[in-house]
Amino acid sequence: MQNKDWWQEASIYQVYPRSFKDTNGDGEGDLKGVITKLPYLKDLGVDAIWLSPFYTSPNKDGGYDVANPRDVDSRFGTLADAVELIEKTHELGLRIIVDIVPNHFSTEHIWFKEALNSPKDSAARKRFHFYDGRGLTGEIPPNNWCSIFGGPAWSRVTEMDGSLGQWYLHLFDSTQADLNWNNLEVAEDFEKTLRFWLDLGVDGFRIDVAHGLVKDEIHRDHRDPEGLTRALRLDVSDMPQEQRESLLSDVPFFDREGVHEIYRSWRKILDSYPGERMSVAEAWVHPSSRAVRYVRADELHQIFNFDFLIAQWNSEFLINAIDKTLQEVAEVAAPATWVLCNHDSPRLVSRLGGGKLGLRKARAMALLTHALPGGVYIYQGEELGLEDAVLPDEARQDPVYFRTNGVDKGRDGARVPLPWDSKLKNYGFTTGEPWLPMPDNWQTNSVDQQQKNFVEGSAEEQSQFGLYQESLKLRKNLRGLSFSWIEKSDSVLAFSRGGGYFVFTNTTDGVIKRELPRTGDGTSIILSSVAGAELVDGHLTLPAHSTVWLQTF
Ligand code: GLC
Repeated sequence: MQNKDWWQEASIYQVYPRSFKDTNGDGEGDLKGVITKLPYLKDLGVDAIWLSPFYTSPNKDGGYDVANPRDVDSRFGTLADAVELIEKTHELGLRIIVDIVPNHFSTEHIWFKEALNSPKDSAARKRFHFYDGRGLTGEIPPNNWCSIFGGPAWSRVTEMDGSLGQWYLHLFDSTQADLNWNNLEVAEDFEKTLRFWLDLGVDGFRIDVAHGLVKDEIHRDHRDPEGLTRALRLDVSDMPQEQRESLLSDVPFFDREGVHEIYRSWRKILDSYPGERMSVAEAWVHPSSRAVRYVRADELHQIFNFDFLIAQWNSEFLINAIDKTLQEVAEVAAPATWVLCNHDSPRLVSRLGGGKLGLRKARAMALLTHALPGGVYIYQGEELGLEDAVLPDEARQDPVYFRTNGVDKGRDGARVPLPWDSKLKNYGFTTGEPWLPMPDNWQTNSVDQQQKNFVEGSAEEQSQFGLYQESLKLRKNLRGLSFSWIEKSDSVLAFSRGGGYFVFTNTTDGVIKRELPRTGDGTSIILSSVAGAELVDGHLTLPAHSTVWLQTF
């Protein structure tokens, strides 16, 4: 496993373990399930997998509420399973990265329990943000910040004598207490966790809420806390851009200067291990030019670029996002990353309108993305063309749904378990009851059908899996090749990689013809998101909503 800088242009597959594959019939996926499906991921052609949290947790926020970061939750299996998973992944020539959640601990973590059983100002409380309330009886929280999941960012505890006492900060659910990173003990504990997993052989970490660890001015109210929470939410579109920009330009709990020192120390730890260990930051930072500060040479390796996570199917939008991203990462000499969906956002096909047209656009979007320079992150089920499932409210589990009193439906729709076999009950995901109900129309999305590579009844329409498999294979040839635009118009984006590969995307609903920059017998179509692309006499016919890759031999 040499391959220095393997992560720079890697294709990394996100496994959300709870929904991947269940082997013990409890209705939730487990690590053994991931082990049994590693050959599937190898066959798909990814370079690495990233696992969302599988650590000991009461699972109030899908495991992002960690009660012990150095052990495996029994719902997912055992530490021995994790060790086996790391080994088997490596045996197949794949890399494995795991999540680390440094902004908060679950209120079930031993530290929080200790804090509750200790007096105010104790060392145990100083690991978190515990403060007295304001008002005559301390009934008003220390400041007016709102939780990103809705409601206040503070909860009040009952002291040991039964009286109402101090408040603790939680930027997310009330079961996720924010850690105090000014406390050395916190930093030391995370160093221990990093080393624990690095010693077990993981190739790196995905850092949850990487921009949130350091807080400023806790004793000052924010001028518009509710507006700020709305501005931070991706699904709020009715806020005027100017107001949004102004609110996001200075968030007292995000992107504070102190976070960079933490990552410089983490980088030293990663570099002290053999074999190119890496890190990728989840950091929603505004303006995005500040985001690349997380990937300066002595900090983290990658930062998720979320521009495509919210991208519209619009040529101008996509061109701007690509230009901005490539310019920004070039300033710090870091590679770009591209993300089309993840466990926190709607699935790609749904975001692009759903149905046949949504799928068609999603295919074109994927081929465009896979041809760009940098790393690509793929969320489980993206390769099956899944849409968000429509769920009954009583099935929902996301704290966002509960904390907003159902106003925001939450993220469960994108977290429904994977369909493995169209002929089996629950599509072979589990022999028990799946933790979220699975739609009854996922037969053609099931892995067994998708792996036939062509959609049933059509010799031309490649399955989503087949398309991903091919583009992931071909994109390996693009590694290290330069990027240059051929066309940036309101209907077509086209670029070349290394002068030998050409990629054309048509974002309109009409057929478009283009003359190729270099013509001749030696150029041919190597991949197309839909049937109907043609190359005749140096002219390319681009079907509506399509991406086509060409190669000059
Ligand atoms: C990150 C995770 C998300 C989680 C939140 C709080 O954004 O991706 O799933 O709810 O952090 O930990």
